[in-house]
Order: sequence, then structure tokens, then C-alpha cells
Amino acid sequence: MARRAIVAANWKMNGDLALVDTMVSGLKSIKLQENVNVVICPSSPYLSALVVKAKAEKLNAAISIGAQNVSEHKNGAFTGEISTQMLQELSVKFVIIGHSERRSCYKETSTQIAHKVNAALIAGLTPILCIGESEAERATEQTETVLAAQLQPVIDEVGIEKFIDVVIAYEPVWAIGTGKTASSEMAQDTHQFIRQFLAQANESVAAKVPLLYGGSVNASNCEELFAQADIDGGLIGGASLQAEQFKIICSAAKGK
Ligand code: PGA
Repeated sequence: MARRAIVAANWKMNGDLALVDTMVSGLKSIKLQENVNVVICPSSPYLSALVVKAKAEKLNAAISIGAQNVSEHKNGAFTGEISTQMLQELSVKFVIIGHSERRSCYKETSTQIAHKVNAALIAGLTPILCIGESEAERATEQTETVLAAQLQPVIDEVGIEKFIDVVIAYEPVWAIGTGKTASSEMAQDTHQFIRQFLAQANESVAAKVPLLYGGSVNASNCEELFAQADIDGGLIGGASLQAEQFKIICSAAKGK
């Protein structure tokens, strides 16, 4: 069974045109292991510059560009939103959907997130669907219930068969930007739960969905995390803003 690994950079509302240049130049010389994709997700104003620069520098075809959010609507009077068609036109291939910051700061619900995943799939974009529990939910042993409640509306809307084109990022909210990474055992146990949950709906699809871990991944802990049986790479925030550190993380990923 070949399951690809993915390392995705989530720049959040950070970075500038200089970082676009530094990152592309840094990634030019990268040696990726077998069956690995790298995705860079800058803020939307930099998508175009990144696409142009990546093309000009003839970046490895395994390196793609992603957006951090997309509208569930096709077009129309939605000030500030970005459509799937706009992303397609820019040759964007991936889109992060349902990041915990979108869920908490912008009150995105699991139903709305399911609509976004559906819109992305229809447009041929690969959604990186983020799920994760809060510290209080982990402390009160609600992690599995929370993750199931975040996944089920998406399964109901798009159908489990479509998950073959979905990437899931498990990001415990308490580990994001805090320096508190989940231990590799804890992360593996939760990833195993997610895969089993998907397997209840379709075993062969579940075996192929890349499950990324996110939350304070850095150059020192990536190797141990990526070595776990159900961890297929990472969604990297802070450490993705430093080209040298990000390269180390990308080089540690390997398809399973
Ligand atoms: P972090 O962010 O690596 O800075 O913890 C991860 C994320 O929010 O995707």
C-alpha cells in the first residue's frame, strides 16, 4: 500500500514577498524522500507571487501551492472571500479548511466546513481538513467524541469515497503555537482513532488518506512524529516561516 506523505506550511497571517523568495530559493535544492509532497500555504495576497516564482525557479513538481481558506460559495456578494475558481486560476492545488483559528476566531461550524470541503473537491482542489480538540476537551476525555463530531458532517456531505482526495490534519488546539507538542504516542493513538473512524465507513479509503499531525512541529521533533505508523507528515505553522528549519522537516517525511 502506498500512502503519500505531505508536509504543508501554514504561514497564517505572516510572511512577505521576501519570504516568498527565500522559501523558493531554499526549496530549490531540497532532496525529498519517496512519495512526499510539500505544500506552501501563504496568505492569499502572496499566492500569485509564489506561483510565479516557483515556476520561474522550476521547483520540484512535488512542491505545490495551497491557500489557507476558501469560500463555500461559487461567487457573488461575499466581500473579503476567495472562490475555488480564483484558486484554480492561480494553479493552487491545495486548500486548508477548518483550521482551529477559523473555527474559533471566525466561528466556522463543522457544517460550513463540510460545505467548503465539498466546494474544494468539486473544483479539483485537495482540501487539508483540520480537526482537533481543545485542552479542556482532552482533559475531560472528549477527544474522540469531538473529532468524530468534526469529521461526520464532512463524511455525510461529500461521501466517504471522496475522502480519497482529502488530506486530514489532526491539530490538538492546545499544541498550536504553544511549543507543547503532543507526545508521539499520544499523536499516534489519536491518528489511529481517526483512521479507524474512517475505516468504519470505508476501510480501503481510510488506509489511503494522509493524516498529518500539526501543533508545534519543529526540526527536532519531526522525525519521531513522522515515524509513527499513522502519521503521514505534518501541518507546520511557526517552523514553516524559516526556510532552513522547514527544509529539515520536509526531508524527514517519507511515504508509507
Ligand atoms: P504551529 O502551528 O506549528 O505554529 O503550532 C500549526 C498550525 O496551526 O497549523
